[in-house]
Amino acid sequence: MVLGAMVMAVAASLAQGCSRAVYEDAAGHFYTGRTMDWTEPTKAKIWAFPKGMKRDGGVGPGSLEWTSKWSSVVTSMYDIASVDGMNEKGLVGSMLYLVETDYGNEHRGDQKKLSVGAWMQYVLDSFATVPEAVSALQSDALNIIAPDLPSGDACAAHLALSDASNGSAIFEYIAGRLVIHNGSQYKVMTNSPPYDQQLALTAYWEGVGGNTFLPGTHRAADRFARLSFNLHAVPKANTPEVAVATAFSLVRSISVPLGLADPHHPNLASTRWRSVTDHTHGKYYFDSVINPSVFWVDLDNIDFTGGVQRLPWPEEDLAGDVSKKFVPSEPFPFIHPPARQLHV
Ligand SMILES: *[C@@H]1O[C@H](CO)[C@@H](O)[C@H](O)[C@H]1NC(C)=O
Ligand SMILES: *[C@@H]1O[C@H](CO)[C@@H](O)[C@H](O)[C@H]1NC(C)=O
Repeated sequence: MVLGAMVMAVAASLAQGCSRAVYEDAAGHFYTGRTMDWTEPTKAKIWAFPKGMKRDGGVGPGSLEWTSKWSSVVTSMYDIASVDGMNEKGLVGSMLYLVETDYGNEHRGDQKKLSVGAWMQYVLDSFATVPEAVSALQSDALNIIAPDLPSGDACAAHLALSDASNGSAIFEYIAGRLVIHNGSQYKVMTNSPPYDQQLALTAYWEGVGGNTFLPGTHRAADRFARLSFNLHAVPKANTPEVAVATAFSLVRSISVPLGLADPHHPNLASTRWRSVTDHTHGKYYFDSVINPSVFWVDLDNIDFTGGVQRLPWPEEDLAGDVSKKFVPSEPFPFIHPPARQLHV
């Protein structure tokens, strides 16, 4: 059974990647690290969004409307989607690729429409903790609209949430229905296969024992097994500095080398950037593989009163604490179908 699932996982497409883990330090504080693995540069930009911002789902009539309750710092992709970030309450969202995603074509009358590019942003704007988000989202009242990406890939993502009090949850749309894995034990996420199968594969590798053997390819199921082992094998750091360094070492060790090619998997995706978020101290660290320096923002030191702002990156080289470097900017529109389709 497990071996059958393993063969399927190996055969499954690994078009795009990404890995995420939540690390706990000796003080019981939490740090979420992730990689963004993609076949081409993702045109990442980093934004500061204020509370009190009027938003809508971005997909025409029937779109969800909301006003942001919490300010957030968020990384976007292709200027069409919020894919990573944290709000002022320490809730962190990480969007990763999941090829098996099926958001469902049917629109139920009781559902509001939301662009997939706005999904994570809506959650960070609205909720302070994972349990709060789970109880609000579990009624499956959102109809996620997901046109293809500019890269031609299907816009197929699952969402991981983590918070400052050991909350963690994975949100996947499988066969048109929302499936939530809610619990602090769900600390690792990569890509294919869907999360219940991923857990079965990991149970198999735990039986083998990570000090004896770890599966070594860049496939999602292998990255999941290695990251799960490493996360529990590293010590609990005694200071936030060492904790951030440990979280970075975990996501760096699971990264895919830049430009790595595999003739059998032409879409193998290189790691483009990594982030580590310190939930307790409100710090968001960003590490682009084409930028020689890590930079970070401290949410407490950002002036959110100036409307929507963005870091002047990659136009300028940034390093160190860049909390004061944000400049006013127009927000990006969330990915939506062509305008002529929005009003039918
Ligand atoms: C989700 O899990 C948390 C604990 O991890 C729990 O407090 C909460 O009640 C759960 N929420 C739901 C809706 O099951
Ligand atoms: C966080 O959750 C993990 C897994 O459920 C548990 O082992 C750990 O003790 C928890 N830590 C705290 C500080 O609650």
